[in-house]
Amino acid sequence: MTITPTELQAVATLAARRAGDHVMANRHRRSDVNSILRTDVKHKLDVEAQETATAVILSAFPDHAILGEETSEQPLAESDYVWIVDPIDGTINFFHGLPWWCCSVAVRYKGQAVAGSVFIPEMLQMYEATSESPAYCNGEVIRVTTTDRLELSMLATGADKWDLGEHSFRFMRKISEMAQRPRILGAAAVDMCMVAAGKLDGYFESGIYVWDMAAASLIVERAGGTCEILKAYPKHRISFLATNGALHAACRAELLPMLQVNA
Ligand code: IPD
Repeated sequence: MTITPTELQAVATLAARRAGDHVMANRHRRSDVNSILRTDVKHKLDVEAQETATAVILSAFPDHAILGEETSEQPLAESDYVWIVDPIDGTINFFHGLPWWCCSVAVRYKGQAVAGSVFIPEMLQMYEATSESPAYCNGEVIRVTTTDRLELSMLATGADKWDLGEHSFRFMRKISEMAQRPRILGAAAVDMCMVAAGKLDGYFESGIYVWDMAAASLIVERAGGTCEILKAYPKHRISFLATNGALHAACRAELLPMLQVNA
């Protein structure tokens, strides 16, 4: 690899920041959507923020590939470097005015995560990591918790946007039984950054997308945690677990059998 992780990180951070700044400058347009679905919102600012991040990435690395939430159906350019962009993770929170949303940019080299940045504009927090660095929040090194008792843990989960029925409720019930307190906060990458920063002990969701976790999973791992795709589905959809490491085996043992019966 001729480009260093630090160089890639700088571009990831700039792309996430510019995307977030664009959304913040247009917060008055939070109802400006292309369509409203039963469990999702197609937001114009999602598209614009992805264009903003893409312009930053391609001006630095014109021949790199970009997988973005808003353009995930398009073929990828041929490159060893693949950037993965979620322009607004937590779109529904943003749409309703909740500040729990972020802009996420990651880059993989030959399939391995090398750098990732998650910018949470309304909290003024920038989370970053490379494959060779610790994880940082606003330049300060962060670490996961040392909680090793599931019944004393705080675990976040999410409502799978494609299946809000019994499938989702079974997992929510299970997380509630496992943790001291469960949380559903509505932005996977923000939740994972909280795991990295030692504010949550773990995060699980039965159906997210690679762009929801690409940057934040590297940040969790470099903060000492453990991340795992428990199950993969077509079109970049996955069941995903991120923990402080100490709780990983226990969480996995509870959740994986449920996924095996939920084909
Ligand atoms: C969503 C958020 C949410 C999770 C959904 C994701 P988006 O991402 O991360 O927390 O529950 O599964 O799709 O659509 O706002 O980028």
